[in-house]
Amino acid sequence: MKLLRIFVGGLICFSASGCQRTGVGYNRGHAPAQPIPFDHSLHAGELKMDCQYCHANASRSLQASVPSLNMCMNCHMTVRGRGGSENADVNHMIDAYMNEKPIEWVRVHMLPDFVKFNHKRHVQGGVACQTCHGPIETMKKVEQFSDLSMGWCLDCHRKPETKATLNCTTCHH
Ligand code: HEC
Ligand code: HEC
Ligand code: HEC
Ligand code: HEC
Ligand code: HEC
Repeated sequence: MKLLRIFVGGLICFSASGCQRTGVGYNRGHAPAQPIPFDHSLHAGELKMDCQYCHANASRSLQASVPSLNMCMNCHMTVRGRGGSENADVNHMIDAYMNEKPIEWVRVHMLPDFVKFNHKRHVQGGVACQTCHGPIETMKKVEQFSDLSMGWCLDCHRKPETKATLNCTTCHH
């Protein structure tokens, strides 16, 4: 998948006049379909669930990670859909859970392999999820909010108050 996107990026770069940078990481607005239409505006918005209830790894490891079905089942063994009515997607989740089939969520954000990113350092350093991911709690479907370009990283790292470094090896091997 990552390789494919590098290839596509190169292709667009060579074919388009002015060499538009639309490849890896430049997919602002990218919002792939998910196997279950998970609604952040309901869970993180209306129900006011904390981001880290589901993405707890964000403050303790490199990756924020997407939760497993186990976590959803804390509520959805009893909550079958809106206002007590049955919802087909929730039934699908319960079936998958009972049959021990994981839900294959589709990645939205993807940096190229040669970039090192670290959630823990940013979250512990006080950068809000929304600064990078936008108002996720209003999104019915997650979309990539920032372009994830090197320039975007550097614009923030350059601000003296961030105390972040600009060394190439901070972000590259
Ligand atoms: C009830 C659990 C839950 C809560 C609460 C939740 N999320 Fe999520 N999040 C998910 C699931 C499941 C996915 C994968 C499906 C999708 O992308 O819609 C996801 C996907 C994401 C993604 C995209 C991941 C990728 O593939 O690149 C981001 C970014 C994200 N969440 C940020 C947040 C933020 C910020 C909050 C708080 C405002 C939040 N989430 C609250 C469950 C949750
Ligand atoms: C803290 C409890 C809680 C957790 C955890 C939770 N949900 Fe929900 N979810 C709800 C509630 C409550 C509703 C119904 C809201 C209503 O009645 O308006 C709901 C509704 C839904 C619906 C139906 C949406 C609709 O429009 O009817 C889906 C699909 C769903 N959740 C998926 C998930 C997934 C996937 C996860 C795990 C990543 C998850 N939920 C985790 C509480 C939760
Ligand atoms: C400094 C910017 C920044 C902040 C702050 C940030 N993220 Fe991310 N997030 C990213 C980038 C960049 C990626 C893509 C990482 C990759 O492809 O390796 C990402 C990816 C993700 C993913 C996809 C799975 C993963 O772990 O790669 C989820 C889920 C996510 N972020 C949730 C969150 C949540 C929740 C918070 C707040 C607790 C948060 N992020 C804070 C920049 C940020
Ligand atoms: C909105 C501001 C912001 C953005 C955007 C941002 N960073 Fe950072 N970054 C920080 C801050 C602040 C720190 C220092 C946190 C601390 O106090 O340790 C940091 C630290 C880091 C570190 C750890 C540095 C070390 O010394 O180990 C890495 C790696 C990193 N950033 C990579 C990235 C990459 C890659 C991107 C772009 C994909 C990015 N950052 C985008 C604010 C940002
Ligand atoms: C704060 C993180 C960060 C720092 C510091 C950083 N980079 Fe990057 N770099 C990235 C990200 C993210 C990408 C991928 C997105 C892109 O190509 O813009 C990237 C991409 C690149 C690329 C590939 C560009 C392409 O067209 O594919 C090169 C080459 C590069 N960086 C060199 C450097 C050098 C040299 C330095 C030190 C002067 C440096 N980087 C410092 C984050 C960083």
